[in-house]
Amino acid sequence: MVAPLKVGIAGLGTVGAEVVRLIDQQSRVLSARCGRGVRVVAVCARSKAKKRALDLRGVEWARSPLALASHPDIDVFVELMGGADDPALSAIEAALTRGKSVVTANKALIAKHGSKLAALAEAHGGALNYEAAVGAAIPIIKTLREGLAGTGIQRVYGILNGTCNYILTRMEQEGLSFAECLKDAQRLGYAEANPSFDVDGHDTAQKLAILASLAFGTKVNQKAVYVEGISSIAPEDLRAAEELGYRVKLLGVAVKTETGIEQRVHPTMVPRTSSIAQVMGVTNAVTIDGEGIPPITLVGPGAGGAATASAVVADIADIARGVRALPFGRPVAKLKQTTKAPMKHHAGGYYTRLMARDLAGTAATIATRLAEQKISIESIVQRHPDGGAAAANGRSAPVPVILITYATSEDAVHRALQAVRQDKVITGRPQVIRIEKN
Ligand code: HSE
Repeated sequence: MVAPLKVGIAGLGTVGAEVVRLIDQQSRVLSARCGRGVRVVAVCARSKAKKRALDLRGVEWARSPLALASHPDIDVFVELMGGADDPALSAIEAALTRGKSVVTANKALIAKHGSKLAALAEAHGGALNYEAAVGAAIPIIKTLREGLAGTGIQRVYGILNGTCNYILTRMEQEGLSFAECLKDAQRLGYAEANPSFDVDGHDTAQKLAILASLAFGTKVNQKAVYVEGISSIAPEDLRAAEELGYRVKLLGVAVKTETGIEQRVHPTMVPRTSSIAQVMGVTNAVTIDGEGIPPITLVGPGAGGAATASAVVADIADIARGVRALPFGRPVAKLKQTTKAPMKHHAGGYYTRLMARDLAGTAATIATRLAEQKISIESIVQRHPDGGAAAANGRSAPVPVILITYATSEDAVHRALQAVRQDKVITGRPQVIRIEKN
């Protein structure tokens, strides 16, 4: 009889409580799959007195996360407290230094300290598993690290933030403003305590930095990610996207280019027929372009207690079975440094929406400025909200002009739009959204 795996859990919030429940509920299945039992032997949380619908009889309460991580009776320290630094960081370091394995759902901590912690795990022989940190129940870490270990990866991109996808879905389907949809996301409990973390793209950036490391063998570097959020997206952009055969999604994209690994988070026009465009509401999805194989898309719940617990328990099960993958799929010493790829070199198609003066020569000026930068136009649409009556009457209220370009460089787009602004044929700031082809 192999002794059961002894687990200590730090943090009994929504996820921690769900993990305790799932281990109990699935105990037979886990024993059968792992060849040994899995037992929660100790826990710690901010408040012991708080009422929880959990059976913790026979489970020891540790006095602190650090005490739990160093507890001689636990094999695995499960960190579900959150926070990029202490107390989670010191507790994880303490567990790894003692040769214990660690399971965490903490994307902020892995994005910031992943390489350092992986080195500790490697040096002392423990596992560092963090499947729940990206896309919750979607097994994207294992897919990149183990499932595709023999495949070169060209690009990995996805919808990694449910709050943003919920907002964009409702804006598109109901013609609502960004602010109205954000309020609903907060009311429904999707958005983080500080919604800027979601809507300004930082949550996606942390997850993307982790995926890029696994895909391309680079050190996790959140600072190498270019980040732009969704707050400037207007219902007009979503309507125009629909008419032009696109949908707008907040994507995290990591791609191998001639000048290095580009890591970027921004609102993106994706073809309406692509797999990623079908993903609506809070659901997450990741597409992987592997060399020599058609794209793989994984879709599923990217947040919530049950979905996150599912991945945490799977990580614990791997440790119980004796499966030890290197945290980033290769020794830390082999991980390459990565730097921020300048967006001015980014190449791709662009959507732009300009508020143009409705006068003779405006379209010609815009087309000339684009041509000077060798930008080829795929389509151009000018809308007359009043059917053109104002222009016919000699008035010149600005009208939206929507342009889709063929592939060009970001630098060229900015130079052309700067020139158009100087020509004074448009008012306000142009809206620019990058297009990602599948
Ligand atoms: N706030 C995140 C989201 C939760 O909306 O997806 C999961 O990281």
